[in-house]
Order: sequence, then structure tokens, then C-alpha cells
Amino acid sequence: MQPYSPSNLVEQLSRNSTPYHDPLAKIHWDLLTTDQFWLPPEAISLHGVPAFMALPEELRRRLSQYEFLNFVDAGLWLEGIFMERIVHTMRSRRNDRANLRYRLHELREEAGHSLMFVELMERSGLATPPRRLPRFLLADIFGRHAPMESAGFWLAILLGEEMPDRLNRYLRRHDADICPTIVEMSTAHIIDEARHIAYALEVLRGRLLDLSTPARLFLKPLVQKMISQFVELFYYPRPELYESAGLKPGGSWARAARSNPGRAAFVGQCLEPTLQLLRDRGFDLRRHRAVT
Ligand SMILES: [Fe+2]
Ligand SMILES: [Fe+2]
Repeated sequence: MQPYSPSNLVEQLSRNSTPYHDPLAKIHWDLLTTDQFWLPPEAISLHGVPAFMALPEELRRRLSQYEFLNFVDAGLWLEGIFMERIVHTMRSRRNDRANLRYRLHELREEAGHSLMFVELMERSGLATPPRRLPRFLLADIFGRHAPMESAGFWLAILLGEEMPDRLNRYLRRHDADICPTIVEMSTAHIIDEARHIAYALEVLRGRLLDLSTPARLFLKPLVQKMISQFVELFYYPRPELYESAGLKPGGSWARAARSNPGRAAFVGQCLEPTLQLLRDRGFDLRRHRAVT
């Protein structure tokens, strides 16, 4: 398989990544406070559930902070996979200089995002339960083991960038409702991610042109499953997270989130542009349904 060949877009993206804007240095960390919501109330998994809405605002706010940390924690894991693969391809002599340069820009930017995530975790003073990834997480399998120049790899990367980006965009549209430091984090991420997504789409365009019909048919259910797993990871916190936020027993709150029609509608709204992007590329996918 030939490596992706350079285009004007790649050169342009590299130019746009210069100068580097370090989120760690740019963000106003002194404005971070747990006295404000970290997610707009409508973006909390239990929003609309009567028992949750009846809780004091302090507890609802606390859950928004834990749910944002859950989102950040998943981002840290995803960025780690991507950075690992970028470093790995540097050993390949097939890398042309334009792509190598751009991938190094991405590496620097993803490292900046991960540093910003770690900074938030530390400054929050909130202890999240240890992350437990499902055993057969397709994004993990594709991200670590699919050849870096394959359609499968770039589909996993695209989903891993697109899906959190939609939530970041929602946060930014509702910035009046949340802590300004969190808005700054989302903004910094969206700006870099626009380039990363443009690059992933460009590479994927070439890869999908090469894809045979049987390969496409093979990939479709895997992409569908990958989306479901990302939805679970980003939008449906595990019981331990509710417990850490002071909502006990965590299992019954987690079940309440899964059967919350407001949550399903919110997820559907965030997911729709990503599904459309894939439909435009020949992957006709269903909408996700929470496992209740
Ligand atoms: Fe990132
Ligand atoms: Fe990215």
C-alpha cells in the first residue's frame, strides 16, 4: 500500500499550525472553579430525570464536573494512541516530508491537549475512579494495530476526533452557562481539531477510493460498532463515576441515564453531523441506541 501523497492542503495545514499556540500557557487556569457548571446543564447525562432535577444545584454541578473529567479522561486515552502511532511512522522511510511535517505538528498539538487535560485533572482536586476500557474496544484495536495508511485506521481516527469535537462545539455554543476555563479548553481544542479533521478526511478520501466493495462491506458493521462504543465511552458514564460525584447507588443513576429519553436525544443531536459525514462517504449507518 502506498503512503498518502502530499497535497496543497497538507502544506497549508502545516502553515496554519505555525506558530504553535500552547494551551497550557494560554488558558486562564486561575478562573477554574467548582462553583460553576463544567457542562451546560442540558449536556449532563441525567438532565430531565425528575429525581436528578430535584437534587440541590451543588450536586448537579458536581456531576457536570465529573462528567467533563470523564470526557477528558477518554480524550487522554485516544490522543495517546494517536501520538504513539505518529511516532511509530517516523521510522518509516516511505513518509514523504510534507506528511511527516504535518504529523509532527499534530503530535505537538495533541501533546498540548493532553497536557491541558492533565492540568485540569490536577487543578480540579476531584478524584475520578480508574478508567476501565471495554475488552474489545474497536478504536483501540484499529488505532493500535491497523496499518497507519489503511481506511480502518483513519476511520477510527476520524471518529475519535469528530465525536468529542461535536461535544466541544456544543459547550462553546452554551458558554454563558459554564466555567470560562472549560470554555477556553474547548475552544483551544476545536481550533486545532478543525485542522486534524481536515487532514483525516483528506487522507481518508484517498483510502476510500482504493477500497474494494468487499472491504467496504466488512468495515461498515465495524464502524457502526466503533460509534456505539465511543457513545458509551463519552456519553454514558459508568456507575463508579456517579458514586464519585456523590450520587449513590451509582448503578441506579447509570441505568437512569441509559433510559433517559432526553439523553438519547442529546446524543443523537451531537452524533448526527458525524453520521452524515460517513453517509456522504458511502457508510449508511443507523443512529445509536443506548444499551439499557
Ligand atoms: Fe486533541
Ligand atoms: Fe486531534
